[in-house]
Amino acid sequence: MSAAVEYARQNAGRFLDELKALIRIPSISTLPEHKQDVNAAAEWLAAELNRIGMENVEVIHTPGHPLVYADWLHAEGKPTCLCYGHYDVQPPDPLDEWKSPPFEPTERDGNLYARGAVDDKGQMYMHLKALESLFKANSGKLPLNVRVLLEGEEEVGGEQIARFIREESDRLKSDFALVSDTEMFAPGLPTLCVGLRGMIYTEIEARGARTDLHSGMYGGAAPNPFFALAQVIAQLKDTAGRILIPGFYDKVEKPSDDELSAWAKLPFDENHYRETEVGSTRLTGEPGYSVLERTWARPTLDVHGMPGGFIGAGAKTVIPAKAVAKVSMRLVPHMTPQEAFEQYKSYVESLTPDGIQLEVRLIHSGDPIVVGTDNPYIQAATVAMKEIWNKETVFVRGGGSIPIVGDFERHLKIPTVMMGFGLPDDNLHAPNEKFHIGNFHRGIESIIVFFEKAGAIAG
Ligand code: BES
Ligand code: MN
Ligand code: MN
Repeated sequence: MSAAVEYARQNAGRFLDELKALIRIPSISTLPEHKQDVNAAAEWLAAELNRIGMENVEVIHTPGHPLVYADWLHAEGKPTCLCYGHYDVQPPDPLDEWKSPPFEPTERDGNLYARGAVDDKGQMYMHLKALESLFKANSGKLPLNVRVLLEGEEEVGGEQIARFIREESDRLKSDFALVSDTEMFAPGLPTLCVGLRGMIYTEIEARGARTDLHSGMYGGAAPNPFFALAQVIAQLKDTAGRILIPGFYDKVEKPSDDELSAWAKLPFDENHYRETEVGSTRLTGEPGYSVLERTWARPTLDVHGMPGGFIGAGAKTVIPAKAVAKVSMRLVPHMTPQEAFEQYKSYVESLTPDGIQLEVRLIHSGDPIVVGTDNPYIQAATVAMKEIWNKETVFVRGGGSIPIVGDFERHLKIPTVMMGFGLPDDNLHAPNEKFHIGNFHRGIESIIVFFEKAGAIAG
């Protein structure tokens, strides 16, 4: 065992305590009232990067939430890794479904429960603890060059980091990126994620009457924007689950036969998935595709909420003047957010009911990505994972989106290793989010071994 892994094992308890302190900062990027908390999390991380021995540590203020940058570039002739993570989290609601408070990290059954435990504070922090262990075990040196870039607005689209890597790509020159923000396919099964869906997140605003109206006095004569949205939404998909936007599927690329046959060999039990993860009576979606294909390799469309009108307790007889639907679509290679949005917007507009004005807005978007597996960094990661977990590493895709990974490929022209340690039942974005504590520690060890192996690759 390497001295760095030894150091990580000896300091495991302290590593977890530190993570708890980070998690206690409610850095919810989408809620303006938490702006100071997002800043505080950035400052906390900058201090920690300094403490472990990183250099040029900087909290980079932006028109949005800050970025945190650090580097250590003294491993001459060795490759450079760009470590990415996000320190912002999703809102914790609905609060009454949490068994322990979302920002009071609580250990139960070998798990750490809290908002951000796995997405992504716990996973991002593994990178820092792997680096600390390597510094400590090798008299202040790393086996490769490292840049760390952390963002505070991944959960709201990642606009600032996207701009930063377009404008400052010279400052980020690296050979590969490392992202720990995905899942293992099953407990104990070492997994590398090689593809993510892209997305477009939109709002449709429907306006009818000039102002809210008494539904008794005007009902029957005045248009209702909720009804209009319901009619529009009902025409976005057929009852089997196929998206009806003209041209939407034209560019969709089928996964290779090799990939499909590898997926068919993964330990996946549809009923178990339906009962324990989804918790519904039936699964829905496009006929003719497996669940893994539907969630990894096919586009989807979902409605997230319909703000407007009266949502208080009790009853109010009102015809609201306006209503909004939040609708997103997940995209797969080779769809582009621009084209998908145009197709969607013109289709929605063509469905406008009488007496209603619709406005279709793009909130944020990100490209889909599939990374090649034939590069030495993925290979080193495959071997490192196998070494720590004692099983063959599997390659999967993820149904979620991490917009910046596409930008790493397109703008920095580097491959990304997505080495994630979440589990399928970690409740990301949901009440009772958790991180398996064993995965936190084995993850740190996996990253240490990966850095050691990557350092042996010619830079
Ligand atoms: N870590 C997730 C994405 C993810 C989860 C990828 C599981 C693969 C497996 C990330 O924090 C996330 O939630 N991203 C958002 C993207 C966004 C632009 C708001 C998402 O996927 O909804
Ligand atoms: Mn994440
Ligand atoms: Mn997330």
